[in-house]
Amino acid sequence: MATLTRVPLIFSCPSPPRRPPPRKYACMPTTLPESSTLSFRSFSFSFFAPFLSTPHNKSNKSFRRLRAVSASMADSRPSTVLVTGAGGRTGSIVYRKLKERSGQYVARGLVRTEESKEKIGGAKDVYVGDIREAESIAPAIQGIDALIILTSAVPKMKHGFDPSKGERPEFYYEDGAYPEQVDWIGQKYQIDAAKDAGVKHIVLVGSMGGTNPNNPLNSLGNGNILIWKRKAEQYLADSGIPYTIIRAGGLQDKEGGIRELLVGKDDELLQTETRTIARADVAEVCIQALQFEEAKFKAIDLASKPEGTGTPTKDFKALFSQVTARF
Ligand SMILES: NC(=O)c1ccc[n+]([C@@H]2O[C@H](COP(=O)([O-])OP(=O)(O)OC[C@H]3O[C@@H](n4cnc5c(N)ncnc54)[C@H](OP(=O)(O)O)[C@@H]3O)[C@@H](O)[C@H]2O)c1
Repeated sequence: MATLTRVPLIFSCPSPPRRPPPRKYACMPTTLPESSTLSFRSFSFSFFAPFLSTPHNKSNKSFRRLRAVSASMADSRPSTVLVTGAGGRTGSIVYRKLKERSGQYVARGLVRTEESKEKIGGAKDVYVGDIREAESIAPAIQGIDALIILTSAVPKMKHGFDPSKGERPEFYYEDGAYPEQVDWIGQKYQIDAAKDAGVKHIVLVGSMGGTNPNNPLNSLGNGNILIWKRKAEQYLADSGIPYTIIRAGGLQDKEGGIRELLVGKDDELLQTETRTIARADVAEVCIQALQFEEAKFKAIDLASKPEGTGTPTKDFKALFSQVTARF
């Protein structure tokens, strides 16, 4: 049984004192049972630690302070974000928005051609590469924190149809640029490269309609575009990298930030009257997704109410919180 004796704490006052002066006496066990060594050690250390000022303790404190400062500096460092398809209609808006927020982001773009690069300003941060060739996208992905994928196969309209005769347009894909090559293989290469480079978040823009294999978009140019897009989305969801899949409704070239955005899952929004969204709003959601944990590991169907109805969306954390679907 331990007996308690008062002992003077002559060594414990730090100089200059930055804490309330220590009590003059503390109760310490002077006789201890064999088994209590450990508890004595922890008792004495935790009790005295705040008052001790040994070189070891000081360097630990400085180290901790340094670590905290460098951690907060790392947190406030702008994230480097690559947007692929940066010459495209939505991709170019994302690239522009990232450049406008230079305190928060270091923007990079990937485009397929020099012409596309010129179209978006021709800056050094725009890389030229083809996502169907893994080695040509690697340089753009090195060193980035986040990736926004806005590449897509683009169906082309065949010439020579006459709407006045009630003819309907026909579409085709160029050789080698079918959705299988672009929306599947090309996206897969980007995800693989991002994984190798330790990218912390991937936002992938796809399309609503993927739950129905008979969706008319699949018959455009016999490309099965939604099926290949969905395969890439699944690959991303299985990759282990934090992701946000944005399945947009019909895209419109309209002003962003003035409509109430709607989120959903499993194409439910396609059964409603609100099935479209401005490209500028999709672009904003892509960037906002990078800022909120609530957007991670989620698949989001995205549309908006018509302008003038509802309240324009400003709280993106709340928007992402509504989503529960992981795929
Ligand atoms: N249109 C709609 O109504 C609709 C609806 C829902 C979802 N979406 C989806 O939303 C996304 C954005 O659509 P959007 O209309 O804004 O896109 P977009 O203008 O068609 O842009 C697609 C981009 O992909 C690039 N690209 C294609 N093949 C490439 C390759 N092999 N290597 C590198 N880049 C390549 C194109 O580059 P080039 O400029 O060099 O061709 C183009 O910049 C797409 O995934 C689209 O499918 C569209």
